[in-house]
Amino acid sequence: MVTGNSAPIGVFDSGIGGLTVVHELERQLPHERIIYFGDTARVPYGPKSPATVERYSREISDWLIGEGVKAIVVACNTATAHALPMLREYVPLPVIGVVEPGARAAMRVTRSQVVGVIGTAGTIASGAYVRAIHAIAPSARVVAQACPLFVPLVEEGWLDRDATRLIAKEYLEPLAAAQVDTIVLGCTHYPLLAPLLGEIVRPGVLLIDSAAETAAETSRTLREHGLEAPAPSAPLVHRFVASDAPEHFLRVGQRFLGSAIDRVEKVTLG
Ligand code: DGL
Repeated sequence: MVTGNSAPIGVFDSGIGGLTVVHELERQLPHERIIYFGDTARVPYGPKSPATVERYSREISDWLIGEGVKAIVVACNTATAHALPMLREYVPLPVIGVVEPGARAAMRVTRSQVVGVIGTAGTIASGAYVRAIHAIAPSARVVAQACPLFVPLVEEGWLDRDATRLIAKEYLEPLAAAQVDTIVLGCTHYPLLAPLLGEIVRPGVLLIDSAAETAAETSRTLREHGLEAPAPSAPLVHRFVASDAPEHFLRVGQRFLGSAIDRVEKVTLG
C-alpha cells in the first residue's frame, strides 16, 4: 500500500455519475492517484432515507480508509447532503463534499441573487443547498426543485430526447416563474443534461456544475494539509471499483468520465 503524499484520493458516489468529478480531478490534479468507489449495488441514493445514506457512506469510507487513501471526496450530492457532517466527525482524514463548492460557484456568478437548485428528492428534502447558499448570502432567494426522473433518463442515455425535454420543462417551470438567473446542477448526472437544459432556460441563465469547484477545493485542502502528491515517476493508474455489475460500469462509465476505463473491480459491502 502506498502511504503519505503518494497515497491515493478516495472518491465515492452512489454509482457511476461521480465520474464527472473524477474527470475534473484528473484535469486539475494530474499528479493525484484516485480510487473511485461506485455503489452500483445500492444506487440510487436519491430516494433513500438520510439514515440509510449515512450508513452506506460510512461503510464506503471504512473501505476506502482500509485501502490507504489520504482524503475522501464525496462526489455524490445526496451522500454529501445527508452524510457529510457525520463523515467529517467520523473519518480521521480530510473529507470534501460537493454541496458547498456548488453553492459557492453559484453565488460567485449570480447577479440577481435569485438562484435555482435542482437535485434528487433526498438532496432537495435535506435543505443542504439552501443552507449552504444562505451561509454565503443570507438574503438570496433559492428555488429548490427535486427532479427524480433525471437520473434514470441519463442512465438510459436519453440526453437529447423529446420525452426528456418535456419532463425538464415541467421540472424547471417553478425556476422559470421565479426568474432565477443561475441554476445549480445539484446531482452527479445533471451535467450530462446541460445542453438540453440550456435550450429550455431563458437566455443568459447560467448552469453550475460543481465538479470543477469541488476539484479546486480538493486541491486547496490537500495543499493546506501538506498532502499534495509529488510528480509521479510512471503514468498514474487509477482504480475503479463497483459494488455490482462492473461490466455496466465499464460501458456507461466512459460517458461520464470522458475517457476510456480499462478495468473495473468488484467489491461487495454491507
Ligand atoms: N449520485 C446521486 C447524486 O448526485 C444521483 C444518483 C442517485 O440517486 O444515487 O445525488
